[in-house]
Amino acid sequence: MIVSPSLLSADFTNLRRDIDMVRGSRATWLHCDVMDGVFVPNISFGFPVIKAIASATDLVIDAHLMIVDPGRYVDAVRDAGAHIMNVHYEGCTHLHRVVQSIKAAGMKAGVTLNPATPVALLSDIIGDVDMVLLMSVNPGFSGQSFIRHTLVKIAQLRKLIDESGSKALIQVDGGINLSTGAECAAAGADVLVAGNAVFRAENPVEAINGLAAL
Ligand code: DX5
Ligand code: ZN
Repeated sequence: MIVSPSLLSADFTNLRRDIDMVRGSRATWLHCDVMDGVFVPNISFGFPVIKAIASATDLVIDAHLMIVDPGRYVDAVRDAGAHIMNVHYEGCTHLHRVVQSIKAAGMKAGVTLNPATPVALLSDIIGDVDMVLLMSVNPGFSGQSFIRHTLVKIAQLRKLIDESGSKALIQVDGGINLSTGAECAAAGADVLVAGNAVFRAENPVEAINGLAAL
């Protein structure tokens, strides 16, 4: 299992220490949550912070843009050092164009679905995307409870990907711990994002490695 620890739950006064902790674990990705206070009711951090994070590590920088019209920032995200750019289906009027421009910029393209957005809406774009990120909480905050209906969506998405011949990875984000992570793995997930379950754990490296072993 690929694990992408979410820095939203890290200690922002000790980011380098927390990044180094992740580097010493089995995680290979680092999840960076960008929020604009409009698409979601919270504001987190932006491109200068991602740039600093990217310069401090060779982990894969997995940027999750919880912002309106993320297509405006494709070059900024790439220049900040991100390798994967996740945009919300609900935030893009011209999703196909945004996905193509992310790939043209040299990044992997991820499309994210909010909990109430059906998997079936991806049927005409699934062949173009490198990853689908299923939100298992309503985006905006770490530390929320896993929405169990996500397990049904993972299975539906697995079927859509396998039937279409797409190579897209399935990523799940929100309320992931060892027990919900195991259920996501069984349903067909490839990548797990975890914030609180990692950074609030007594032993964060052990928490990451437990998820990686699923
Ligand atoms: C929520 C963010 C998540 C968040 C996950 O809007 O997209 O990445 O940090 O945090 P946990 O794992 O604590 O739910
Ligand atoms: Zn996220």
